Amino acid sequence: MNGFFITFEGIEGCGKSTQVALLKKRLEIEGRKVLVTREPGGTTTGELVRSVLLDPANTSITSLTELLLYAAARAQHVDERIRPALDSGAIVVCDSFADSTTAYQGAGRAIERGIIKQIHDIATRGTWPDLTILLDLPAEAGLERAHAVREVDRIESEPIAFHRAVRNEFLRIAEHDPLRVRRVDATQTVDAIAEAVWRIVEPLLP
Ligand code: TMP
Repeated sequence: MNGFFITFEGIEGCGKSTQVALLKKRLEIEGRKVLVTREPGGTTTGELVRSVLLDPANTSITSLTELLLYAAARAQHVDERIRPALDSGAIVVCDSFADSTTAYQGAGRAIERGIIKQIHDIATRGTWPDLTILLDLPAEAGLERAHAVREVDRIESEPIAFHRAVRNEFLRIAEHDPLRVRRVDATQTVDAIAEAVWRIVEPLLP
């Protein structure tokens, strides 16, 4: 593998998709080959799984089913798109990846850490981000933003305590893996965040 794998993580409304698009633009200006993708999704199968996962009408999905569906979408994504792109030398920029499972299903749904770890091993088979940007902001601020721009999906409609637990777990992940996971203050302006992201990414590029 000679590409470079970057993931963006953070709670609802943290501005991931905006920053992913801005980073893509910047990398392309530098002449880099870039694959931008997202989870759940990124493949035809993954997008179908995504619609099941986010449909507010699916009120009966259990925590275990939810975990396995995110993992299924990821396994397909890694094999079909991420791994081949990295093998071809591309920079892969992915909106949410395995840390989201640790935060949402692990902390949010209280699924045991050991099970989450096993699921990561099965779904990723070692394809792990070289760099993760955590766009961090308080849960209240994120939800307010998310609700202002779109209809809430199944996960977004969880109570505030759920989103606080998710945010705290992202912060815990960053604390435990400071070389890979870099926290950026997502309460700043879009331009200031993009600058902070670029200052982190540029020196690390192969
Ligand atoms: P988004 O792409 O609009 O951010 O929506 C994806 C939702 O799925 C978001 O609420 C976070 C959630 N999610 C998980 O619960 N587990 C995961 O593993 C991933 C990738 C996302």
